[in-house]
Amino acid sequence: MSILVTGGAGYIGSHTSIALLKAGYSVIIADNFFNSRPEMIQKIEQLAGKKVIFYEVDVTNEQAVNQIFIHHQIDGIIHFAGLKAVGESVKKPLKYYYNNILSTLVLAKACHKYGVDKFVFSSSATVYGDNKVPFVETMDLLPTTNPYGETKVMSERILTDFGKVNPNFSVSLLRYFNPVGAHESGLIGEAPNGIPNNLMPYITQVAKGKLERLRIFGNDYPTVDGTGVRDYIHVMDLAEAHVAALEHLTPGVNIYNLGTGKGTSVLELVKAFEDANGITIPYEVVARRLGDIAECYADVSKAKRELGWEAKRDIVTMCRDAWRFERYYEE
Ligand code: WQD
Repeated sequence: MSILVTGGAGYIGSHTSIALLKAGYSVIIADNFFNSRPEMIQKIEQLAGKKVIFYEVDVTNEQAVNQIFIHHQIDGIIHFAGLKAVGESVKKPLKYYYNNILSTLVLAKACHKYGVDKFVFSSSATVYGDNKVPFVETMDLLPTTNPYGETKVMSERILTDFGKVNPNFSVSLLRYFNPVGAHESGLIGEAPNGIPNNLMPYITQVAKGKLERLRIFGNDYPTVDGTGVRDYIHVMDLAEAHVAALEHLTPGVNIYNLGTGKGTSVLELVKAFEDANGITIPYEVVARRLGDIAECYADVSKAKRELGWEAKRDIVTMCRDAWRFERYYEE
């Protein structure tokens, strides 16, 4: 089977492309390198030991996307391509709504036009808003604090409504918690452009000496130690969950939380990183970050029950693999 992976040169897309190739799928990657680099394609092929077909396209470009469907037999789509910086989305809402919503519309329209009925969508735990933890797929969604989160809610709704009138259409909405870590080779990983927004890449850059110290955004939350609690999941566990979701697709809409089901605070993650790698991470506590919630972690029983999938890699492995990638990584 041939799978179109949009954003396949990105952090989660590249790891998933490797998992797909290893599972015997053919992979077509569509990416515009907005938040990734051309050398990722060669690294994916090297790590998977197989070739991919690659198109440098912006998936909001309907004509360019249609050309891929015209020239290739596509059996399914995994749609990663999108902007994902929460803070930036507050400052540039139109950029986020345009890019993230139009890309979903273009791809759903192409599925209809070319008869592709398997769709896996990269969604996010952000859609839950400030619900009560642990988050469960059946929960009513609450308003998110940012346009990025709203684009995920809207894309889920577009695909759900499209599924309602196309009985053969199978869509899996995968709600990621906090993806971290890197492929065990250290060859690929999370390489954000500029100063990292997310905690783990910030920690690894402090460890490397690129950044002076970690700023912990608030220690007065109602949590175990006052710092924010999140459900960190290894990116390779996440990648393998996409293969499982693809293999278990059935007509209709299925929603799955992809996390470990365990919450880890900022201070606990810092300590885990220090213990796993024998490095001290200097930090200072500063004011809370706008839009942050105290706790976010998943009820992961549905993915285990229906996909036969659960996260296998622990927080120590996440910290070791993240650090290995940072050490080897050259800008
Ligand atoms: C984690 C914790 C911060 C940086 C976001 C998106 C989510 C997904 C993952 C796209 C929080 C604290 C962070 C720092 C800190 N992105 N922190 N100092 O905000 O949970 O989730 O990224 O899909 O959709 O919402 O991740 O890594 O930014 O923050 O203290 O320099 O670390 O306050 O408690 P977040 P994060």
